Amino acid sequence: MTQKAIRSAGAIDPDDIGHNESANPSFESILHARLSRRNLLKGGAGLAATSFIGAGLAACGSSGDSGASPAVAPVATPTLSFSAVAKSVADALAVPAGYTATTLFRLGDPIDAGAGAFANDGSDAAASFEHRAGDHHDGIHYFGLDAGGTARDDSNSSRGLLCMNHENITQVFLHTAAQVGAYNIAARAAAEVDKEINVHGVSVVEVQKNGAAYAINTASAYNRRITAATIMEISGPARGDDLMVTKYSPAGTQTRGTLNNCAHGYTPWGTYLTCEENWAGYFKRPTATDNPSRTAKEVSALARYGVTSANGNYGWANSTTTGDLYDRWNATVMGASASADYRNVSNTFGWTVEVDPYDPVAAPRKRTALGRFGHEGAWLAKATAGKPIVAYMGDDARMEYIYKFVSSANWDPADADRGLTAGGKYLDSGTLYVAKFNADGTGQWLKLDIAQAAIAGYASYAFADQADVLINVRLAADAVGATKMDRPEWGAINPVNGEVYMTLTNNSNRGLTGSSGAPLDPANPRFYSDTKGAATSRGNVNGHIIRWKETGGDPAAGAFSWDVYLFGAQASVDAGGDNTDYQANVNLSGLGADNDFSSPDGLWFSQKTPGLLWIETDDGAYTDTTNCMLLAAMPGQVGDGASKAVVNLTVPANANANQSVTTFAGKQPGIAGLRRFLVGPKGSEITGIVETPDGRAIFVNIQHPGENTSAADIATPANFESHWPDGGTARPRSSTIVVTRNDGGLIGV
Ligand code: FEO
Ligand code: CA
Ligand code: CA
Repeated sequence: MTQKAIRSAGAIDPDDIGHNESANPSFESILHARLSRRNLLKGGAGLAATSFIGAGLAACGSSGDSGASPAVAPVATPTLSFSAVAKSVADALAVPAGYTATTLFRLGDPIDAGAGAFANDGSDAAASFEHRAGDHHDGIHYFGLDAGGTARDDSNSSRGLLCMNHENITQVFLHTAAQVGAYNIAARAAAEVDKEINVHGVSVVEVQKNGAAYAINTASAYNRRITAATIMEISGPARGDDLMVTKYSPAGTQTRGTLNNCAHGYTPWGTYLTCEENWAGYFKRPTATDNPSRTAKEVSALARYGVTSANGNYGWANSTTTGDLYDRWNATVMGASASADYRNVSNTFGWTVEVDPYDPVAAPRKRTALGRFGHEGAWLAKATAGKPIVAYMGDDARMEYIYKFVSSANWDPADADRGLTAGGKYLDSGTLYVAKFNADGTGQWLKLDIAQAAIAGYASYAFADQADVLINVRLAADAVGATKMDRPEWGAINPVNGEVYMTLTNNSNRGLTGSSGAPLDPANPRFYSDTKGAATSRGNVNGHIIRWKETGGDPAAGAFSWDVYLFGAQASVDAGGDNTDYQANVNLSGLGADNDFSSPDGLWFSQKTPGLLWIETDDGAYTDTTNCMLLAAMPGQVGDGASKAVVNLTVPANANANQSVTTFAGKQPGIAGLRRFLVGPKGSEITGIVETPDGRAIFVNIQHPGENTSAADIATPANFESHWPDGGTARPRSSTIVVTRNDGGLIGV
């Protein structure tokens, strides 16, 4: 569809002076002048790169594949067409008969000539990861390139850029057995810290189809690693705010790194959104020593976001080599002012970060207008000319909220290829809302603005201004009375009717009394028990998927109607086989052996096959029976089911006394509407998914196989929980796989 010239490179790009991004252009100017990798595509050196790539494509052409996507007949009423994959606990990846899964991009795979082969024994150097795939592959998107690789082409399935997140690390597999044995979080070797920092972030890699096979083009000038050390611009209303001031950026306009990049989003102007989820725990801030140096306001904000770790998750502030690179992970008050230490550094994380995959040297932008929280992802409603850009977002923690951003600017299709400049126009100014789900099946979007009386007069936290509201938006959402949800994960918008789906993965505190619990409500209606071995879990153990329809079909509407599309459950649960405290109304969606699942997380609608929804799991409850999985679904619409009274447990003693609630359950899907497509290897979760524009290949991320391997077992490879994908006694590796149908057809239908 779109075929436009790649956005121009070079030190001066008048188009790239973004809305509300005027200060501090010097960093990017320097980088553009120094690196200007994109000029390679246009200058003499570029000819060499292009002809190398062209040779590969010529080979495709000779086998009858010109690189253009063959025409695919529209699917009028698609139906799922594959045989369900059985549940499995094998250390293997399973797809349906007639399909092939191939490993494409594993932890440590080189993205350019700057790194050699991956040793995968913990000896690979920290700096090499600036040229290798990171760990814990998560959200992913495909950005098409034209056949020559010099322009964006959204329709090309044979050549494109994969942008993907590297959310976290499986620490034991990144270091040698001796290093793991000597691990001390209070005294970390700098080389180990540097490696862990570089393994986080984002990869941009070019993928090409050669015959029927996809491969990474390691010669591509677009290939790029963004890490937890990459310089980023703070953009939008919180740019330059006092709360963003650090020793590194006394002006509060920049920060280094992006962290715990979970899910994602993508824009109609050709950029990737990478979202910072569980970032709070990376910072060292022992409360007993630091709280006395803080104002009461600061203490409550830091507590609300969980910046309360004694050492930080990995002790990055505790490097035995001292210096600014490690001090920046220490969020305690150390100096005389905010510009003399990193007391505010955690305020520069928790954002939606925009990356231009077509501009390999542009600094990512932290878009503060979208609010700061545990961002799972940011999913944009279909853009309509003359209407605002709308993004849906979840804050993935127990009892957190669902948000919606509505841009101030109305969409102008002329901005479709303006990259970060368009990002500045649409994502730096707008209104943020939070969702309230009512008991009658309606809901409201509550405005998060300092002008709202509930926010301006909030007794628990005196907001200074709108930047403070955005930086501490969880507190603002508390103030307006948003609905506490069962851990909002991915969202997805049905291209057929604009309805929005969001996974609520599980919640062990739902239905409990006390400050960390919350009563059941119609949108979060289950509290039951589940056994796994000798252990019993209670709460919403298996999660559900909520969906809503905006009033009038307008994404910017202030109200909506909702129901629960699907409830996770093990199929046998209502037969009394697996609840300690028997309860017959857990499997509300009527799941069976071919489609039962637990803990939905990733969610994505095909853009090619109308109505085809992919559901991925990140589970720890049903893993005695099956590893995590990918399911294909053909959902109906909001209101296609019925209201349902749910009788919940009132045990144990800290459960609420009255747990009965009436919800709205979507039509039960049956095997025609929901079917297991893939089961992952041991210890993995299934994370990102995206298709090629022709719908004939899907890229799926397999995250942290073998993550339950203990430090004690690292010296005994046979004891690793998983050896996938390399087999033998290899260390397991998070990987992107590509799945195709052996007959070349559409995936899933
Ligand atoms: Fe990173 Fe909420 O999953
Ligand atoms: Ca169970
Ligand atoms: Ca997730």
